Amino acid sequence: MPTTRRDLLLRASIAAGTALLPIYGQRLLAQPRFAAHPFTLGIASGDPEADGVVLWTRLAPSPLDDHGGMPAEAVAVGWEVAEDEAFSRVAGQGTAWALPQAAHSVHVEVQGLRPDRVYYYRFHTAGETSGTGRTRTAPALDADVQALRYAFTACQHYETGYYGAYRQLVADDPALVLFLGDYIYERPGRDRGPRRHPDEHAANLASYRRRHALYKTDPDLQAAHAAAPWLTIWDDHEVENNYSGDVSQDGGDSPSFLVRRAAAYQAYYEHMPLRRRSIPVGPQMQLHRSLVWGNLARFQMLDARQYRDGRPCPDMSPDRKTVSGCAERLDPSRSMLGSEQERWLFGELAGSNARWNVIGQQFAMAESSQVDPQTGDPRFGVDGWDGYPAARDRILAFLRDARISNPVVIGGNSHAFIASELSLHPEGPVIAPAFVGGSLSSTSGSASDDLLRKAPQMRFAETQRHGYSIVDVTPKSSMLTMRAAADATDPRTTTSTLRTFAIESGVPGFRD
Ligand SMILES: [Fe+2]
Repeated sequence: MPTTRRDLLLRASIAAGTALLPIYGQRLLAQPRFAAHPFTLGIASGDPEADGVVLWTRLAPSPLDDHGGMPAEAVAVGWEVAEDEAFSRVAGQGTAWALPQAAHSVHVEVQGLRPDRVYYYRFHTAGETSGTGRTRTAPALDADVQALRYAFTACQHYETGYYGAYRQLVADDPALVLFLGDYIYERPGRDRGPRRHPDEHAANLASYRRRHALYKTDPDLQAAHAAAPWLTIWDDHEVENNYSGDVSQDGGDSPSFLVRRAAAYQAYYEHMPLRRRSIPVGPQMQLHRSLVWGNLARFQMLDARQYRDGRPCPDMSPDRKTVSGCAERLDPSRSMLGSEQERWLFGELAGSNARWNVIGQQFAMAESSQVDPQTGDPRFGVDGWDGYPAARDRILAFLRDARISNPVVIGGNSHAFIASELSLHPEGPVIAPAFVGGSLSSTSGSASDDLLRKAPQMRFAETQRHGYSIVDVTPKSSMLTMRAAADATDPRTTTSTLRTFAIESGVPGFRD
């Protein structure tokens, strides 16, 4: 790394004030008293392993005010984990510190639990008790597992819809919920849809915290977090629309963008049930990780934002979204994941003993293009994998050549339900099925038929419905069920099955 770049990162880190300081030297609030209930943002759990899970909460008696209405002092928070909902068989307990420099968020990495078990958890502080959450541990690494039900979704724009579909997700009782990006949207209020953002861009630490707090006040989202452990990755809107690595959508490798990114990553960490490995260091934060579910499934969760190269031929795409006739787009040195994460992904997949290898990332992945009306040449989007086609081909070729067992790609970003069959060439053999499990509430301006016309590998698209997908995995098959809200703008909406896809072990692609 050249010195200038390193200095830039360091300066960004200092400017954003993101270092998480140790407790020594803190002002401690010995006997805290809050004017209101401090657990207004709910509770959550995440990143389960065979012996434990992360428990999360954030103290915020006045959630939309600066600092959540908390004093600039450290507060002790008690936590409990039990085998039963009445907390009569306690499996673990302790005290964690909610620190002002982490927005009084609490991340407890519980250890010593038994594998493949349901647990209940709650927090206490200042005589107040949080709601009770339900979570579970993963099976032992070498366990012979016969069944897993997981859910995935993405894109929960607060303004364009309610989160009613989460009520059905809770009723579906998945062991694990994967959220694939756009947990928040950074833009100010646009006055369309049933709800409204505040009239500010989320662009610094205080405003990103306010935006996360606003989203976390939603009761259906809180209930979904309280029902199962989540495994979350981000996309662009947790920071800024269509950013690429250290480049803002407006272009320029600017120190001010890295300061903004550091603030956004910090607020993201503060509001998600993430392990210590994800504590941000300035504008850098490790989010890509693996989760093993015995011998049945392995999840590779990718970060296609932080390490990517900038968009190709920026001068040729005045709309910032598409390019035509851009040779740089095809440059094999261009990377979506960064070379380190790409090597890590291939190493993890090569070492996997799982029957099913789920790749959780941000996009639909299938190639998509439209004919340029002026030149007749194809035009490609630059924000998704079409801006990085060589990197996509490397992944598909690896899955094929290393004979990875039952790869399944899942993604978000498209604001649609999508089912595709990925191949290296238009008429080539199918290498892996790829699904976008719906947007929870974010809307799309595209018609379903338009999407299908542009992408020959897509076999199903629905852009006007919103929801999530449930996947029932056994050694023999993965059954993917798309569930859509009747009306995402109705807070009391019902949710029903939209479409079902069957993937048989050993057979790339799907039946519907
Ligand atoms: Fe989105």
